[in-house]
This record gives sequence, C-alpha cells and structure tokens, in this order.
Amino acid sequence: MSDSKPEDNFALSRRSFLKTFGSSKVQGPGTVPITLKVNGKTLKLDLEPRVTLLEALRNHSNLTGSKEVCDRGTCGACTVLFDDEPLYSCSKLAIEAQGHNITTIEGLAQDGKLSSVQQAFIEQDALMCGFCTPGFIMSVTALLKKNPHPTAEQVKKACSGNLCRCGTYPRVMQAALKGAGAPVTTKTEVIPYARLA
Ligand code: FES
Ligand code: FES
Repeated sequence: MSDSKPEDNFALSRRSFLKTFGSSKVQGPGTVPITLKVNGKTLKLDLEPRVTLLEALRNHSNLTGSKEVCDRGTCGACTVLFDDEPLYSCSKLAIEAQGHNITTIEGLAQDGKLSSVQQAFIEQDALMCGFCTPGFIMSVTALLKKNPHPTAEQVKKACSGNLCRCGTYPRVMQAALKGAGAPVTTKTEVIPYARLA
C-alpha cells in the first residue's frame, strides 16, 4: 500500500495542470486574425477571441440570416451547418470554428434557386415573424444531408431543438415535412392573400 498522503497526489495533479496551462498559447483580449470558411468562401476577420460564431456572421460578415434570439443555446434560431451537422452558432466561439465548413441560410440557394426546404416554407406560408425560420430550415437541411428520405418522426426529431415563439408549428412542421419529402401528416388551410384584403 502506498504511504503517500492524499495531499501529495493533489500537489502532483496541480503541478501537472499548471505546466499544461503555462504551455498553452493565450490569445486576446485584443483582436486576433481569424479565418472562417463560410458558404464555400474564405472570410478573414480580426476578432476578439470572445466573439461567437453568430456575432462573427451577423456583425462582422454581413450574413444576417442566422438570427440571434435567446443567445444562450436554447431556441435554435441561430442554427448553421458545421461540417454538415446542425450547430447553435451562438454557443460556439468564432475562433473555435476555424478549419470547419460552415453553411448559413444564405448558402443554401444554388444559382438563384431556393433549396427544396426553403421553397416548402414559402409554399406552406410557414412563418409569421420569421425569426425561427432560418433555424428550422437549417435543421431540416442537416437531416436531409444524412437521410434523404426521412420519416415524419425523424423530421420532427430533427426540429426538436428549434422553437417558434409565434406558435406557427402546424405550418412549420408541414413545410419541414414537405421540404424533406416526407408525408405531410396534418392539413392546414392556406388562406389566399386576396381573401385577406
Ligand atoms: S440564439 Fe442561439 S440558440 Fe437561440
Ligand atoms: S414565426 Fe415567429 S418565431 Fe416562428
């Protein structure tokens, strides 16, 4: 049995920790050069290390499609694709996003043609204020990259991290299902604009 005291073990751990800490390169608090790959383009920015990916997109790159709503990783309005996986961009530092492929809602249309998911949201009139819409579209898009023919349940699960505060869920879900090519499960009347006038 070892005769070392618990404090000795603690002292050793603390020394190892301090050695590791001392060898890591401290960045900031001023700006540092950051390179992001967004929608296939290289963005070179000078940002403080505390800047989130969402802030870098919205405030420093003029890509305002990703919305800031909760800014704390709960609503999904800021969802982007991060190496084709959905990611809350408000919960990732821009400096940590270097070296990864980021896609925002602005990067979905090809040659001026909206993606099937974007088109479905328009056809289903699936928005009121629209703040949640880019996030829902990115979540469904991420699902389709992995699973081109999802079931309704899989679409609903993929959108489970997105909130719609306007309560437009029936239409949002129809649009998500339609965009994903999954069977639409409920029927909602779409009121023609002319009838509202
Ligand atoms: S703004 Fe990022 S999750 Fe709400
Ligand atoms: S349409 Fe307003 S939050 Fe969803």
